[in-house]
This record gives sequence, C-alpha cells and structure tokens, in this order.
Amino acid sequence: MSDKVYIFDTTLRDGEQVPGCQLNTIEKIEVAKALEELGVDILEAGFPISSPGDFKSVVEISKAVRKPTICALTRAVKKDIEVAADALKFAQKARIHTGIGSSDIHIIHKLKTTREKILEKAAMATKYARNFVDDVEFFCEDAGRADLEFLAKMVETVIASGATVVNIPDTTGYCLPEQYYEKIAYLMNNVPNIDKAILSCHCHNDLGMATANSISGLRAGARQVEVTVNGIGERAGNTSLEEVVMTMRAHHETLNLHTGINIKKIYPTSRLITRLMRMPVQPNKAIVGRNAFAHSSGIHQDGVLKNRENYEIIDPHDVGIPESLIVLTARSGRAALKYRLDKIGYPVEGEELDTIYEKFLNLADQKKEIYDEDLLDMLGHTKDNKIYQIVSLDVHNIAENESTAYITLSKNEQLFSAEGKGNGPVDATIKAIDKITGEDVKLEEYLVQAITGGSNDIGKVHIQIAKGDVFYYGFGSDTDIVYASAKAYLDAINKL
Ligand code: KIV
Ligand code: ZN
Repeated sequence: MSDKVYIFDTTLRDGEQVPGCQLNTIEKIEVAKALEELGVDILEAGFPISSPGDFKSVVEISKAVRKPTICALTRAVKKDIEVAADALKFAQKARIHTGIGSSDIHIIHKLKTTREKILEKAAMATKYARNFVDDVEFFCEDAGRADLEFLAKMVETVIASGATVVNIPDTTGYCLPEQYYEKIAYLMNNVPNIDKAILSCHCHNDLGMATANSISGLRAGARQVEVTVNGIGERAGNTSLEEVVMTMRAHHETLNLHTGINIKKIYPTSRLITRLMRMPVQPNKAIVGRNAFAHSSGIHQDGVLKNRENYEIIDPHDVGIPESLIVLTARSGRAALKYRLDKIGYPVEGEELDTIYEKFLNLADQKKEIYDEDLLDMLGHTKDNKIYQIVSLDVHNIAENESTAYITLSKNEQLFSAEGKGNGPVDATIKAIDKITGEDVKLEEYLVQAITGGSNDIGKVHIQIAKGDVFYYGFGSDTDIVYASAKAYLDAINKL
C-alpha cells in the first residue's frame, strides 16, 4: 500500500502575494472552486489580519468550498489568531497556520529576540490557536537555514502544545535536496513526539530546486507538501503542484506515494490561474508550459509519431492537454511534415511527399516556424482554402476604454467586413472578428511579448482559445501589436 501525501495548496496565499497577481474575492472563489475540483486536501485561503480584503476572501471561500480543509495564515500573535478564527467560522473543516522564525538569522536580525523566547511564543501561539480549532499547523519559518537541534526542539515544543502539522519551510530556497532530506529525516528520528503530527514540506525555488527538495522531504518521511499551481509565489516561486504530483505518479514504484489529485484537471486549472492572475507560464515550464509536449527536431518528431513514449514520459491527455504538438521548423523531417499535411487534409506519400518536402525546407530556412497557413500557401491552395486572412484593419480609440475596429477578412476569395467595439483596440478587433466567423470560442490566454524591449520591436502574440473542451493555439507577430493580435486570433480560429 502506498502512503497518501496531503496536498496543501497555497496559490491563494503565497502565490497571490506576487506583485500583479492579486485577485478580487470573486476571482478567488473561482480559483478555490477549481482547486476543490482538482482535489487539493488543504486550501490556504489567505492571511486574514493582513487586510479586510483577505479577511473577506477567507470568509467567502469557507462558504463556497466544502471539500478541502480551509486554512488561514497568522503570525504567532494572539490578535492574528483571533482574526483568523473569525474568518474561518463558516469553514466545514478549518485549520489555523501559525508560526515564527526558526533560524538564527531570523531570530537575531528580524525578530531581535532569543531562541528561548521563540520557543515560548511558539508554544503560546499553538495552544492559543487550539482554543479555536482542532487542526493547527505550525510553520518554523526559514527552517532551511535553522540549526537542526534547535529546530528539533521547536518541532517537539509545538507538537506538545497541540500542533497537528509542522511545516518545515525552506523559506529562502537555500537547501540542496540531500540537505532538505537530512533535515526531515533528522526530525523524524530525533523528535520524541513526532508520531503525533505530520511534517510538511514548503520549499521555495530560488535555486530552482523547490520540486527536488519537496520530493526529498517526502522521501524522508514528510506526508504533506505545500504547493502552488504553476509554481507561482514569492521571488522565484513555490514548489509547483503539477510537478510534485506528476513526479509521484511517474516514479510511483520508487516513491510509493499517492495523492488525491484529479490529474485531468491539472492543465485546465493551470490555464484558469494564468488567466485570472495574468501571470504567463514560461513556455518550457514542466507539465503545463506551451512547449512541454511540443516536438520540433526531426529525430524527436519521428520518434514520437512512431510511439509517443519514445520522447514523452507523460501522456498529455492524462493532465488534460488535448495532444502533443508537432512544430514544423527547418529541423523537421518528412514524418512530421506528412503528419501535419494529413491533419490539414492533404495526405501525400512517396515522390509527392519528397517534392513538397524540398519546398518546405526552402521555406523553413526563411521562416522560424511553419504554420498550417504556410503549408497551404506552399501547396498553392491559399486562394481556395478555408482559412481567414486579414485584408485590412482600422482601429480607432474613441475615448478611454472605448475603441472601435473595422476589419475585412478574406476566405474562399470572398470578402467579409465587420465593426467591433471593445474596451481597447485588441478587444474591439477580436469582437469584430467574432462577428465575421460566428464561432463560439472562449479566449483562454492572451500574451504579448516584446523581444528586445525597444520601441521599434516586433510584438509576438500568443493566444489560446477553447471551443468546448478543446484548446487551440494561435501565434502572430507584427510591429503593430493590434495587428499581431488579430493574426494570432485568426491563426487559432483557422485551426478549429
Ligand atoms: O515561505 C515561508 O516560510 C512561508 C511561511 C509563512 C509558511 O510562506
Ligand atoms: Zn512560502
């Protein structure tokens, strides 16, 4: 029998602290419901004393979400604990997460006190929190840099005072995986009352080792892991939910651990959080990045088309991603070209494929990536194909938050024009396009990037749309970002 690892999600607390990621209460409830569907065990909903907004969010999330335990953060201060308990009053299952610094750096330079006084405060806060709830988690802040013997004393003290979970945060993302392993193993072996509580891993990613450290902690005996979706969080972020969950799954035989996460919901939840927090995921991010299941070199494409497992250790369907992407570049081979031609309705074989492949290589040498639209062009089918192309686009900003776009598109040698109004030029353009295509799609992600940062730069726009449960990507680039956005949107629409 494998051991269960409790997933403690802190996307709405440690994740939401990131500048620019702040959500309003309605958005937080939407995220909380998605996390409930995803199957997290504990949902850290906020830090109630920090602001009236955070207090309200904890109250509303407690009412809206019933399955996971709802957790609220506090300092080791009575007032914080009282306010957290009040915010949690509607929770079906409530946890108070209190704590204080455990490293000498924090004790001397931040808290300006002594180890003895810290132990007293830790005991006081835990006991006080237990007056309000049965489930109290204590965090030993900066445990990653704390003296081991003192840390063990602190863990023993808070367990004796009633802590049910003890969090061992690597607050600064400092530890090496073996150091974090040894820390947890030391506590497991040297804290006399350790059987009365669960140890929790809370690792930050300053050296890019948050996932490795969390897995090491679990191997050493911790049974809770604190994570955020997409790994968002302070500075370089927190341990990412999708990475630890999928590591436990991929290495099930070695780790013998399982979680209650519904992995099919990983990708949709990641998209929702990206959209609401306006925090793009790096394209090469494990599991949920745009390129996580994209293959561009000829050898890999050929291998993946023969058998997905040649170059993929996870089936993208398992995490809710519709399919692997075969990206056509100058490094692609015939197998990849044939695969994409088949997909757009041009099955070719033998000599015909060889001829098209030659043309393709010439074009690919000039362009970085070859899209379906380029293939159709190359095949001489642009004029009578079924794709929309921009003929003209004219945008006017009428007032603040009010724009109008006039667009003309061509398809099958026919012209279509429409006017769209929106809160900005991109919104107006997309609305105008929607009037023409009549497609019922949802814009899931919109990302503009400048490459050099200069005002003469080219804007690259990545768009993701959803039609029902299926996602489509679109890409467009231009010196005019509204034009680039229209191209990207049409690129996605043309793939429907
Ligand atoms: O990183 C950290 O130490 C924290 C604590 C507040 C749990 O986020
Ligand atoms: Zn943290």
